[in-house]
Amino acid sequence: MPNDTYEFLSILVLHGPNLNMLGHREPGIYGAVTLNEINRLLERDGQKLQTKVSSLQSNHEGVLVDAIHDSLKKHQGILINAGAYTHTSVALRDALAAVALPTVEVHLSNIYQREAFRHHSFIAPVAIGQISGFGAQSYLLGLQALVNHIRKTTADSS
Ligand code: DQA
Repeated sequence: MPNDTYEFLSILVLHGPNLNMLGHREPGIYGAVTLNEINRLLERDGQKLQTKVSSLQSNHEGVLVDAIHDSLKKHQGILINAGAYTHTSVALRDALAAVALPTVEVHLSNIYQREAFRHHSFIAPVAIGQISGFGAQSYLLGLQALVNHIRKTTADSS
């Protein structure tokens, strides 16, 4: 649990392609929650965890790669739902490996219950872990896990 001795952390939250359509997009799979609502929930939980949350959504792979590069020296960790790029993007995987910040991968849907092409993630091997299938809650669980991991590794190394 946070206490007064914790430093404020800064986490970059990246949302990949089509996630701007949440609320409208395939509600049977992704639910009714909008991206704005998810970002608000992340900010709320971030405050409880003494963590600033900066969110970016893009439908463009290069914009996401640039944001990952820019995260160095600005953020202590990355929470990412790469959307369909999860299953296709060596470039996003390489960018995450290059900056080497602790990263947690999240998905609203359970990608392993869905089509076979969604079962492989290029992000998973460069992430601390993955949370999949809990709707908006996946993001909140992911944020908590990421912050706990960063606090623990910082404490262990000091
Ligand atoms: C998703 C799962 C992906 O397979 C899909 O392409 C998405 C959303 C999810 O959050 O469940 O765009 O990442």
